[in-house]
Amino acid sequence: MQVRVLGSAAGGGYPQWNCNHPNSRRARAGDAMAPRRTQSSIAVSADGIDWVLFNASPDLRQQINDTPVLHPRDALRASPIKAAVLTNADVDHVAGLLNLRESQPLRIYATQRVLSVLAANSIFNVLNPTFVSREAMALEQECALTRADGSLLGFSVVPFSVPGKVALWLEDVNRGANFGTVEEDTIALEVRSGGRTRFFYIPGCARMTEALTARLRGAPLVFFDGTLFTDDEMIRDGVGVKTGARMGHMSVSGADGTLAAFANLDVARRVFIHINTTNPILIADTPERAAVTAAGWEVAYDGMELQV
Ligand code: MLT
Ligand code: MN
Repeated sequence: MQVRVLGSAAGGGYPQWNCNHPNSRRARAGDAMAPRRTQSSIAVSADGIDWVLFNASPDLRQQINDTPVLHPRDALRASPIKAAVLTNADVDHVAGLLNLRESQPLRIYATQRVLSVLAANSIFNVLNPTFVSREAMALEQECALTRADGSLLGFSVVPFSVPGKVALWLEDVNRGANFGTVEEDTIALEVRSGGRTRFFYIPGCARMTEALTARLRGAPLVFFDGTLFTDDEMIRDGVGVKTGARMGHMSVSGADGTLAAFANLDVARRVFIHINTTNPILIADTPERAAVTAAGWEVAYDGMELQV
């Protein structure tokens, strides 16, 4: 299978439009150590011809333009993008659907919860329902991905719930500490083909659990939530008032952090994705980047290609 990282940054991208943090200034200045990044998404293909998006970033139009394998071939109106799988209803993961407007056959996969959110926002009907079908995925059930005509794309996903939070724009302060979050709000994907687990895609995760540890142990490849390096970095750096915990993201460092959680998991390849504009691992010459590299992690970048 082939994987392309279309976007590696968290919501807002890197640099975020209104961010004047030193990290963002380096990216805007064209610093080679600090390449710009679009919002998180990958494209996955079993045959290198037809592709499935994992999440649809608001930057999708640029991502397609920057990725020749996603350009139309053959017909006057066509696309190698045959389906999109959504892991939550965050703006950075669903707004890009609007780029897939009009009458192009496509299949969208998400939990019933996320499909309900799309259904409640009729702007998504720019994806003409006559051509674009929406398929509910049940947690823990292997789902063979198909084109709109039902033909198989050659791989499957197993969606499973991970700790997280309802999308920011759906938070309900009257519904308790986690703002009305339900199990289907944040999912991860195990990708299988030829009877084998190829990789896991987990762009958002609030904490490591025993169940998740058991699932990931010995995996060949895991993409994982790299939003913040330190839980309070946005507050410390004066650019925000929220911790990572408040946003539903575990941090890279610390006793409860991702480096510690993966230390004994025997995962062959570990890649951070969904990286916030404040995270020092975005920049190639920082001590924090050196620390994650020394711990065996890679930092995803836009255009990264992987064979799995
Ligand atoms: C998140 O991952 O926490 C969200 O993308 C935040 C946001 O929508 O700004
Ligand atoms: Mn996000």
